[in-house]
Amino acid sequence: MSTVVLKILALWTILIHVVKLRIDHSCSQTPITVHQMFKETVDKYGPLNAMASKKNGEWAKITFAEYYNLSLKAAKSFLKLGLERFHSVAILGFNSPEWFISAVGAIFAG
Ligand SMILES: *[C@@H]1O[C@H](CO)[C@@H](O)[C@H](O)[C@H]1NC(C)=O
Repeated sequence: MSTVVLKILALWTILIHVVKLRIDHSCSQTPITVHQMFKETVDKYGPLNAMASKKNGEWAKITFAEYYNLSLKAAKSFLKLGLERFHSVAILGFNSPEWFISAVGAIFAG
């Protein structure tokens, strides 16, 4: 049991590390944020399906616009719950739209 505890402790930190972007100047594209990239995708493909999952044996689909809106709602909810910028969100769950919405929401929340 102590081995398990040590492994968990090794993954724990209270230090905030700000990741410095390494910009490859040979790349012609201007760097953009995840939010900008998602917004551009919504502008281009908003009404198209982004994800499909089975709920009670039926396919449930969400569009890029819905995915974006739900991710924004998740971000606002995380902030309302006390999430602060540069803090972390741990998402435990099955592969599902909710998992992706939470992941993007965490990024949107900073
Ligand atoms: C997303 O949110 C915007 C702004 O509230 C709204 O105008 C739009 O209808 C929403 N789109 C979808 C697909 O929910």
